[in-house]
Amino acid sequence: MGAPSTPGYPQRLAALPLADRRLLTSMAGVALAALAVGIAGGLATALARAGLLDIVPATGYRFLTVHGVSIFFYWLFVAQAALLLAFSATEDDQGLAWRRVAWAGFALMLGGFGLSMAGAQIGTPLLYNGAPELAADDPRGLLVFSSGYLLLGLGLMVLPACAITTLLTPRWQGRQERLSAVGFALFVWAGFLIVTGFAALYAFVPSVLWALGAGPFPAGQGTSWHIVFHNMHYLPLMATVILWYVLMQVLTGVKSVFGERFSKIVFSMYLVFVPPTSLYHMFLEPDLPGVVRVAGSLLSLFVSVPTLTAFLIIVASLEVHARRHGGRGLFGWIRLLPWRHPSMAAIGVAVLSMGLGLVFAFVLIQGELAPLLSDTFFVPGYFHFFTVGTVSLTLLAALAVVLPAIGGRAIWRPGLLRWMPWLAFAGLLVFGVAGIAAGYLGVPRRVIDVAYQGQAPALWQGLMAAVGVGGTLMALALTIFAAGLALSLLPRRGRDPVQGSMPLATWGGGALPPGASAWVGPVSVLAIVAAMYAFSALAFELMRSLPITAAGGAGH
Ligand code: HEM
Repeated sequence: MGAPSTPGYPQRLAALPLADRRLLTSMAGVALAALAVGIAGGLATALARAGLLDIVPATGYRFLTVHGVSIFFYWLFVAQAALLLAFSATEDDQGLAWRRVAWAGFALMLGGFGLSMAGAQIGTPLLYNGAPELAADDPRGLLVFSSGYLLLGLGLMVLPACAITTLLTPRWQGRQERLSAVGFALFVWAGFLIVTGFAALYAFVPSVLWALGAGPFPAGQGTSWHIVFHNMHYLPLMATVILWYVLMQVLTGVKSVFGERFSKIVFSMYLVFVPPTSLYHMFLEPDLPGVVRVAGSLLSLFVSVPTLTAFLIIVASLEVHARRHGGRGLFGWIRLLPWRHPSMAAIGVAVLSMGLGLVFAFVLIQGELAPLLSDTFFVPGYFHFFTVGTVSLTLLAALAVVLPAIGGRAIWRPGLLRWMPWLAFAGLLVFGVAGIAAGYLGVPRRVIDVAYQGQAPALWQGLMAAVGVGGTLMALALTIFAAGLALSLLPRRGRDPVQGSMPLATWGGGALPPGASAWVGPVSVLAIVAAMYAFSALAFELMRSLPITAAGGAGH
């Protein structure tokens, strides 16, 4: 087991050249702005669907478009790009190579954000998949909207070149023999971002050409969208696992007990498992042969392999370490983690949310259940466990370490901020459980008013009201957490001392405590599997009790 590296990440971030810190500050500022706009759109949609905000459906769809586009495409990807650069720059302590390339990539992404947001205001709201069918009569909005995604795609192809050059320079200069496990993970992450950028170009160029009158109607956009969406869906999960790996070193000083090589193998598994599994998004397409659909359904199981393995590595390493320092009982060691640090609280909630999200995801990918649930509120009900609970809170946890270090300010009110992930989790449980129950009972997704002139079951509106309440709590908690972090970026004279190696006692961690066996990882995976069976059985029971059969599309 490795000792904490000295100096730690916070000191290395604080010591980056000013020009790097300026770039990272600008990127973090834009990412947080995209999060704020996205939260506003999500809250308005949740309140409208709850019947608490009276707006015409078209306005509701505009909010939903703004929500999906700003939060899913720009918050998640600008934040990932910023964190990729920040951690790549600290690998060799020489700062960023090819910084101008990074600025160019960032400028493209920012331009994309502006165009996508403008496009969301023109003509029919296109939702975040920018379906060309909705713009058949008036392609102007589609042109502006899809051009935004083209710039984002180009930015995602350009910017990671800076991270890759930064990571490889020490090898080219003969100062390093091989990449560290983190360096390797960052390298994979950068490569994946480039592929995703390319997929976005591939999917949206035909729409732009058609809108310009230079190409045929993009009838195949739906299929390309599945591939982009698939990459964009799993990449943040891979990023999450890499960030947990890094943040556990920052917060506890613990490195993997399985060694660097094993971690590298796990990170490279994403390259093997993720691309082919994009088939699974198509397994509801009625025109595809049965064998492709079955293969898609099976492949979608594999995609959780690297995520669960990395999760096991991290939990087992922490447990072995804690037990060597006196941690007792199955869960006693968990108390020794530094829970008073907002970043630790966010990771704790991220892990819990991932467990719940995986359980429901496995229910959804079962061939029998998918057609019944896929166009219902079950889908947004379960995937917010990933998008809010797992991915967004992990990105915020990382920013809670990076921003105070590069901004030269101590983290703002950690005593308040550390409760925000838990408040978000409370909101998420209400939103997710009510949303999933609503989905089981047939409430459709992407329908702003589900009253159906009073014909809909009364329970539908009650469950959607709970979705509105849970959504409000999530929005409030994420806003306070993000605003608190943004304060670290404000200019100031002088610098606070860097909260460097973060002595555990400062943040509520005990002396990390005999025995070297680790059980919580395997036990939690077993619990997840048991819960998957329970929820699938429940779904089948509910299905039998319904007097209808349903067919759904594979749209996300
Ligand atoms: C923080 C508070 C949030 C609230 C209140 C919220 C609320 C909602 C609601 C009500 C929907 C509409 C579901 C429907 O009508 O079908 C939705 C959809 C969605 N949300 Fe969120 N959400 C939040 C955060 C997030 C985050 C952080 C992400 C991603 C990082 C995210 C990604 C999405 C996506 C991709 C959709 C699907 C959009 C579509 O079907 O067009 N949400 N959200």
